[in-house]
Amino acid sequence: MINKIEELKKEIESLKADSAEAAEQLRIKYLSKKGILSQLFDEFKTIPNEQKREVGQALNSLKTFVKEKINELKESFDNKGDEGPDMDLTLPGTSFELGGRHPLSIVRNEIIDIFARLGFTVSEGPEIEDDWHVFTALNFPEEHPARDMQDTFFIAQGPDVLLRTHTSSVQVREMEKTKPPIRAIFPGRVFRNEAISARAHCIFHQVEGLYIDENVSFADLKQTLLYFAKEMFGQDTKIRLRPSYFPFTEPSAEMDISCSLCGGKGCNVCKYTGWVEILGCGMVDPNVLENNNIDNKKYTGFAFGMGIERITMLRYQIKDIRLFFENDVRFLKQFKSVD
Ligand code: DAH
Repeated sequence: MINKIEELKKEIESLKADSAEAAEQLRIKYLSKKGILSQLFDEFKTIPNEQKREVGQALNSLKTFVKEKINELKESFDNKGDEGPDMDLTLPGTSFELGGRHPLSIVRNEIIDIFARLGFTVSEGPEIEDDWHVFTALNFPEEHPARDMQDTFFIAQGPDVLLRTHTSSVQVREMEKTKPPIRAIFPGRVFRNEAISARAHCIFHQVEGLYIDENVSFADLKQTLLYFAKEMFGQDTKIRLRPSYFPFTEPSAEMDISCSLCGGKGCNVCKYTGWVEILGCGMVDPNVLENNNIDNKKYTGFAFGMGIERITMLRYQIKDIRLFFENDVRFLKQFKSVD
């Protein structure tokens, strides 16, 4: 009987199956109630007692061996049927929802597009600045209130490191970098030490513009800004320039547009005046050109600066500036841009 067991072991060692069913057939052949192993166990009962110990051990180990072999064969066919019938390749894929752009980004991109059509390039400067780029080079007098801690966030003093209060600082960076002609806009984030309310925030965004060349005149400034206003707020938009003061421009002006909501008839957005202020502008002060080593006998220029929040609030009739910074999806998902 021992010989029989040895032979069977060899036979089992070389068993092969080419499918899960073939492996199952082998299980039936060797391990079922009427299988070969069962028959051997029956035969075992008949052998002389003194052989039982040796044959019994051999038989048990043969049984374990067959079981392992057949399991191994079966496992090799597991997982193979996965691409099979229970996968429906015609089902639609899992979709994911596309986010929208932030309204401030939509409007900033629109502003960039409008000025790009007039040949303006785009540059950016650092948010953390020094006194020279934010104030001194821009002709701010030593005692100007903007240099006060009350209005400006200082990071360090003497030498001063501060958060820029306006993007006009990028004018200076651009003049350091390039020689005239310069025709560029500078979008970016600015910081002011202000109490937060529906109309003011300590962080907001501006787009600055600078145009320096020979023979640039106030008429060029006016025409450029009129084009911008019409593209941004509609072709019927009118502009009005009121004299103002900025240290870095002379003469300086503030620009109003005819109220895009009531068309100039008067409403609560324009406080019944028909006009809303949207930006500051002027001819670059010759001192600023000189501070930046540009020949102010040869070159003239104009500059302007506008708040992106203000323009966005007018465009979409948003009443509270704080909504831009809360990131409430119920607010944000109302704005869809095509790009
Ligand atoms: N920097 C000014 C501000 O933050 C805005 C401004 C006014 C920019 C006149 C200019 C300008 O370039 O010419 O209020």
